[in-house]
Amino acid sequence: MKNTIAIGIQWGDEGKGKIVDLLAPQVDIVARFQGGPNAGHTLVIGNKKTVLHLVPSGILHDATLCLIGNGTVVAPETIVEEMDTLLEAGIPVNERLRISDRCQLILPYHRALDAAREVAKGKGKIGTTGRGIGPAYEDKTARRGIRLIDLVSEGLDAKLAENLAWTNFQLTEYFKVDPVSRADIDAVIELARERLLPLMADVSLILYERHKAGDSILFEGAQGTMLDVDFGTYPYVTSSNTVAGAALAGLGVGPGMIDEVLGICKAYTTRVGAGPFPTELYNADGMCDTAGKHLAEKGNEFGSTTGRPRRTGWFDAVVVRHAVRVAGVTGLAITKLDVLDGLEEVKLCTGYMCDSELLQTIPADSARLEKCEPVYETLSGWSDVTFGATSMDQIPEQAKAFLKRIEEVCECPITMLSTGPDRDHIIHM
Ligand code: GDP
Ligand code: IMO
Ligand code: MG
Repeated sequence: MKNTIAIGIQWGDEGKGKIVDLLAPQVDIVARFQGGPNAGHTLVIGNKKTVLHLVPSGILHDATLCLIGNGTVVAPETIVEEMDTLLEAGIPVNERLRISDRCQLILPYHRALDAAREVAKGKGKIGTTGRGIGPAYEDKTARRGIRLIDLVSEGLDAKLAENLAWTNFQLTEYFKVDPVSRADIDAVIELARERLLPLMADVSLILYERHKAGDSILFEGAQGTMLDVDFGTYPYVTSSNTVAGAALAGLGVGPGMIDEVLGICKAYTTRVGAGPFPTELYNADGMCDTAGKHLAEKGNEFGSTTGRPRRTGWFDAVVVRHAVRVAGVTGLAITKLDVLDGLEEVKLCTGYMCDSELLQTIPADSARLEKCEPVYETLSGWSDVTFGATSMDQIPEQAKAFLKRIEEVCECPITMLSTGPDRDHIIHM
C-alpha cells in the first residue's frame, strides 16, 4: 500500500480506529502524530471490542510496528493501562511499540488545570475530554513541557518544581481549588521511567530508515479537521493541528514520504462537546428531531473516551469540502452508511444561509457559523439493510445516489465504504 495519512474530517469519532486496523496488514508501520488520550479509537473483531487512546490502531497485527510521534501528548498512566490490557489479551505490545523521545508528557497538574478551567468557564465551557490536553500543549509551546527524554536528562527535578509551583499558584490563587502534590507527580514519573523508557526511540530516524528500505507507512490521525486548532471551530477545538500536514511535523518526516490522504467521515455528522454544529438535529440538551434520534440510537453515538452522548445531524458537505481542501484529501472513507438504513429520506447540506448570504465555505468566526442555517438537498432513503455489506451489489440504488452526490459536492472520490463496526464490514471501491 502507498504511504497514506488517514485522518478524521468531521468532529472526530469518524471510525478512524476501524479503518486503520483494517488497512494495517497492508503496511509495515502505523504511526500516530498528534493528540493524546482525548482520542478513543474503537476496533471490533468478531465479538471483541478494543478501545485505544494512545496506542496506534495497528497494534493487533503481528507484523506491524507501531510508533507514537513527537507531536503527541502522552499520559503515562493511560498508556501503561492500555498496554497492560493489550498484554493481558496476549498482544506483545512491548515488542511492537516505540515512543518518540521528543513526545510531551501529560502530568496530573495538566488534568487539574483542564478541569479547573472548564468549571470556571461554566456554561461557556469547551466540553473537553478532561485529559489535560490543552494545558500539556500549552506547556510545549511555552517551552516548559516535560518530554520523555527529560526522564534521563539532568535538571528534571528543578523543571518539575518550577512547573508545579506555577500550576499550583493558578489552581489555588485563581481557581480556588486544591493544589497537586509533588508525590503524585513523582509516582507518574517513576511509572514512565519503568515502563516507557524501554520503548523510547528516535521515531523520525526509524521512519527515515524504514522508508529508505522500502517499507510502507500508515499515518493515523486523531480527532478531526473541525477540531483542528487553526481550521476547526475555534475556540471549540482541541489544542493540536489535526489536518494531514500535522503528520509531517508530528513525526519528523518530509512531504515526499506521503502518497495519499484518506479522509474518514461518517455518512452523517456527530460532535461531542460544545461549539457550532450547523446540521445538528439531536442532543442531550433536548433537541429531539426524529431522524437525529435515529442516528444517535442506531449509531450508538456515545463517546469512546468519556461515554458522553454525541450530538447528531445530517451529512455536512460544506464541512467535508473544507476538510478536503485544508487537509489535501485524495480519497474519502465513508463510515456508518448502515446507520442510515430505514430512513425515508436522507439529507445533505450543500451550503449555509447566513444573514441572507449563501456561504459555501466555513466562516473563520465561530459566532458566525453558529448563526448559519443549513441548505439541504433531500434524497430518497432506503429500507434495505446495508449493514455488513461487502460488495456494491448489496448497496441499494438510493444509497448509491446519496454517495454519488457526496462525491460530487465534496469534490473527492469515495475509495472505501464501511457498513458496520467489524473489521470485515467494508467495501473497497
Ligand atoms: P474514531 O475515534 O474515529 O476511531 O471513532 P470511534 O471509535 O470513537 O467511534 C466510531 C464508532 O463507530 C465505534 O463504536 C466503531 O466501532 C463504530 N463504527 C465504525 N465504523 C462503523 C460502521 O461502518 N458502521 C457502524 N454501525 N459502526 C461503525
Ligand atoms: P477521536 O480521535 C471526538 C473534543 C472534545 C472537545 C474538544 C476539546 O476519538 O476522534 P480536548 O480534550 O481535546 O481539549 O477537547 O475536542 N475531542 C474529541 N471529540 N473525538 C475525539 O477524538 C476528540 N478529542 C477531543 O469533546 O469538544
Ligand atoms: Mg473516537
